[in-house]
Order: sequence, then C-alpha cells, then structure tokens
Amino acid sequence: MTATTPGTAPVVLIAEELAPSVLQVLGDDVEIRHVDGADRAALLPALAEASAVLIRSATQIDAEALAAAPRLKVVARAGIGLDNVDVPAATERGVLVVNAPTSNIVSAAEHAVALLLAAARHIPAADASLRDGKWARSKFTGVEVTDKTVGVVGLGRIGVLVAQRLAAFGVTLIAYDPYIQPGRAAQLGVRLVSLDELLREADFITVHLPKTPETLGLIGRDQLAATKRGVIIVNAARGGLVDEAALAEALQSGQVGAAGIDVYAKEPCTDSPLFGLPNVVVTPHLGASTTEAQDKAGTAVARSVRLALQGDFVPDA
Ligand code: NAD
Ligand code: MLT
Repeated sequence: MTATTPGTAPVVLIAEELAPSVLQVLGDDVEIRHVDGADRAALLPALAEASAVLIRSATQIDAEALAAAPRLKVVARAGIGLDNVDVPAATERGVLVVNAPTSNIVSAAEHAVALLLAAARHIPAADASLRDGKWARSKFTGVEVTDKTVGVVGLGRIGVLVAQRLAAFGVTLIAYDPYIQPGRAAQLGVRLVSLDELLREADFITVHLPKTPETLGLIGRDQLAATKRGVIIVNAARGGLVDEAALAEALQSGQVGAAGIDVYAKEPCTDSPLFGLPNVVVTPHLGASTTEAQDKAGTAVARSVRLALQGDFVPDA
C-alpha cells in the first residue's frame, strides 16, 4: 500500500478478538480501531468512518450496520460462516465480503471428533464427579465407536475431514448431502443416503451444514424421534440446525443417548435447556479456537483487506 498522510489512512475496524498476526499483515499504513462488535450501540457509530471491518461470528453485519458504514469497502470474516453478514445487502452497496473458507476446517473437524468421543465416554461428567470426590465407575459406562455407523450430515470440507478421521476407528460411514456426487463420496468410503435412512441407521450423527433457510431446524422433533434409540449427536456447525428444545427433550427421554454441542441458536448463550443435562458435553463455540486456525484465518482475511483497500483483485483466501 502507498504511504498515507497521518489522519487520512483508511480506518480498519477490528470488531472481535483476532490473532496478533492480523496487525502485522495489515501494516502501519492503516488506522486500526477496536470495538466490541457484539455491542450494537458501540458498533454502529464505530462503523461510520470504517473502510474495512474484521469480524468473527459474534458481530452482525446486517443492512442496518451497512447503512451506518458509508465508507465501507470490505467486510472480512475471519472464518467460514457468512450467516452473520447480509451478503446481498453488502453487494448492493458495492461492499466486498471476504472470508477464509479453509482456515479453520481442521480445527473444527478435530473439535467435532473430540465432542463425539467425550460424549461417548461421559468425559466431562466423570471429570466433574471425580473432582467432587466421587469414584463412580459404573455410572459412567460409555460406548465404543468402533464397528458403529456414523452419519455425517453435510459432506463438505469439515464433514469430509471428520469422516476421514473417524474412518481410523473402523466405523461404517454414511452421509446425507444432496449436493455431493455419489462417486466423490464413494472415493471417500462414504455411502450417500437420504436423511431418513441416515436417521434410521446411524449410531452417531455429526452435523456439518451451513446455516441457511433450508438447513435451519433440519434436525427437529420428528427427525430425533426417527433416530436409533440412544444415538449420539454432535453439532459443531451452527446453532439451530439441531433444534435445541427438541434435543433437550430427546436427551431427557433417552431417545438421544448423549450429545456434543458447540453452537447455539442464540450466541452468546449461557442459558440453554441443554446445560442442565448430564449427558451433554457443551463448549462455547470453540471449533475454530486454536492458535493455528486463528492465525490462518486472521492472516488470510488481513491480506484480502489490504488488497481490497488498494483496489486490487482479491483472490479466494
Ligand atoms: P462446506 O460448505 O464446505 O460444507 C457444507 C456442506 O453442506 C456442503 O457439502 C453442502 O453440499 C452441504 N449442504 C448444504 N445444504 C444442505 C442441505 N440442505 N442438506 C444437506 N447438505 C447440505 O462448509 P464447511 O466448511 O464444511 O462448514 C460446515 C459448517 O461448519 C458451517 O456452518 C460453518 O460455518 C461451520 N463451522 C463452525 C465452526 C465452529 O467454530 N464450530 C468452525 C468452522 C466452521
Ligand atoms: C466459522 O464459521 O468459521 C466458525 O464459526 C468459527 C469462528 O469464526 O469462530
């Protein structure tokens, strides 16, 4: 970027906590400002002078936020999901939206596998019980993953990584994804099935869908009722894909044996019917929270922001 006169440097607004490497990549010819993007009353005025805004999942860049940002050239999502950005409204205003679609896929896949294993073996509940002075071995009898059927809902980038990792456990892999070619799935050792078949056959179900009007609530009360009794369900994709209230009921009735949940319909979430249940492992949207993923996501979108502010072509990150 060319040197700028002090006071005329483009304002880059960082609205969430990002890796330190972001600042290095952005360089010193932009003016960095920080705001808590989840605080609307602070975000909207802070956007007034911003040429770029960098966000993760907690900041809503909707039509109102875009209208408050007359100088905005680029919205940079340091991660994958763009469900918190009104992309059509941004496009209408000539604002570029960039993300980092491969930056955190390994971290997200590893987190999903961790949740699945933790749920299968009651690890957090057993840990809490032992710290509480109880040596309760029979209470925490779990299930093996080996020789079971794992159903992957959404066989995209993360779904594939999860399938590849679980293959090492000697499972049968099935997936529901109407947009994937059966040949591609077969190469991965995965049999494509309908959602109904997946619900009927899977001992473990792991959800890796984008949040869209089509996928929201895809796993609701009826679908949970159609699962194998005792199924273990993991959602490290987006809150609301699995209906939280219906899941809590199914966990209470034993229809669902256990669940591992990283994402919630409303975030931040500190109050959910799931939190009081012993057979649920919960984390606060930590799928991408690793040093490596944050570094890759931050660096990729910071590069895109520099290019966009220079008026250069921005390739896919
Ligand atoms: P992706 O786009 O690579 O894969 C999504 C897959 O879902 C695609 O194969 C697509 O064909 C399929 N799909 C779309 N609509 C469908 C439908 N109606 N029914 C069945 N399948 C459908 O996305 P990805 O990178 O694998 O990410 C998956 C999800 O994980 C996204 O929601 C993303 O935001 C989320 N994510 C969460 C975290 C976290 O911190 N928990 C981290 C990274 C990504
Ligand atoms: C994503 O979609 O990339 C995830 O929500 C991870 C994140 O941004 O924290």
